[in-house]
Amino acid sequence: MDKEARTIDEILSIKDGHLYVEECDAVKLVEKFGSPIFVISEKMLRSNTRRFKEAFQDNWPEGKVTVMPAIKANVTLSTRRILTQEGAGVDVYSPGELMAALESGADPEVISVNGGGKDREHIRNAIKAGCRITLDDVDELDLIEQVANELNMKAKVRFRVRPDFPNLWRPTAFTLELVPIDLGTQAYKNGIPTEHVIEMGKRALKMKNVELVGFHLHTGRHHDTLWYWQGMMQQYVKLIATLKKEWGGYEPQEVSIGGGFPIPRDPFGRMMNRADAPLFMVFFPIMAFLRILGDRARYATLSSVMQLILTRTPNKKLAPTIEDFAEATMGSFRKAMVKHKLNMKGLHFQLEPGRSLYGNAGIHLSRVLKTKHQKKPIVWNWVLLDTTYFFLTGGTYEQHLHDFIWANKPDARPVMTADIVGRSCYGDRMIPEVRVPELQSGDIIAILDTGAYQEVSASNFNGLPRPATILVNQSSAEVIKRAETLEDVFRRDVVPERLKK
Ligand SMILES: Cc1ncc(COP(=O)(O)O)c(C=O)c1O
Repeated sequence: MDKEARTIDEILSIKDGHLYVEECDAVKLVEKFGSPIFVISEKMLRSNTRRFKEAFQDNWPEGKVTVMPAIKANVTLSTRRILTQEGAGVDVYSPGELMAALESGADPEVISVNGGGKDREHIRNAIKAGCRITLDDVDELDLIEQVANELNMKAKVRFRVRPDFPNLWRPTAFTLELVPIDLGTQAYKNGIPTEHVIEMGKRALKMKNVELVGFHLHTGRHHDTLWYWQGMMQQYVKLIATLKKEWGGYEPQEVSIGGGFPIPRDPFGRMMNRADAPLFMVFFPIMAFLRILGDRARYATLSSVMQLILTRTPNKKLAPTIEDFAEATMGSFRKAMVKHKLNMKGLHFQLEPGRSLYGNAGIHLSRVLKTKHQKKPIVWNWVLLDTTYFFLTGGTYEQHLHDFIWANKPDARPVMTADIVGRSCYGDRMIPEVRVPELQSGDIIAILDTGAYQEVSASNFNGLPRPATILVNQSSAEVIKRAETLEDVFRRDVVPERLKK
């Protein structure tokens, strides 16, 4: 085994034949805290927040830049406190997220209360706390005015807009089919349709207790390129210019561009392979034809062809850096502002990274329970873990294929193709068809880039208690969310007396 130390990224390294997170041995983390566990690096959280702030601020001398991470990506109270210490604002979507943001000491001036279907109480809490409210629906304006009048307070609001993006013609990463991004953005429900926003703005600007402070845009992670962000900025600014004309010269004090930047080792969409469908269409008639040779010949051919076609490799190509995104996004934004003769001086610029801020700060550690092999009728190998994809469902929806490292044997040579599977009764193919070394029960896998959307989406399928989260800070490791117990799993159940007899 190669015992040489080497660096994988800012927080992950290989030392003495083990994976380290900051200065903590991942194997010792499992020995101490059990398996499976989510692990979060404080260093990476702070570093990502600072990099976003500095990179965007360097490209926007005209005004202040505020990073407002989307708390939905990781709602753990301790991680949010770290971001508060870094001076970050917050994008919140629900009453629960608002409570978490306020409890974690975030400055209400830079909390954006976003999301459709806000009810009166949520709006009331947001105004009372002094947060920004980002309007998503037509009817919200009147409700906000009523509540602001009742409280005799001024509500600061922004409109979440829905520009058209005819320039974003490439396929969205959200679907296997070749759906153009501009069609994908139309299907996404959030934001106020432009035909309503014009009229809403005219009304809002006359309201005594409502102050329209600017605009918000979030379209999601449709593409991992600078091209996507440049195209988005052109259309966003064009819409702001149209609204300025419609609203008698209105200029925003602040604009937000939302989130949607990729994780560096971007796992998004890697499970879907656009080549699979045509390959199988060609392959299927051949397989059907092979039946005349008999089952053995057919299965032997299937075995070898399947290994060839299906073996997958996690993404090794890094996405553009935070600094690249900042330069491209702000460059395109500024150019469009100049073109449309809009004021830039003092404009407060905001962004809401979720996956790209939390994603590579987290890993998921799990022990191998056993390996399982068959040679007939088709060769197949399985590595069964003590975790499940029901703990990583944020990635299932987005077809993630995560990179991974065997924490106790990172340099072991791959010898076979196997499905790395979870322990639920489903197929639970967490990382299917990848090359793995010889493994034994007790070996430990580190599934990388699981800091965003994963722990928050974990469910109790099969009655499995959800794992703990451990915060690593240099050589210290602390529980910041304890593992669930079996009692926790059934805590909400209420059994009527008549059923107890
Ligand atoms: C309003 C808003 N802002 C920011 C984000 C974060 O997006 P991402 O995690 O892709 O950066 C989201 C995620 O859905 C969102 O809805």
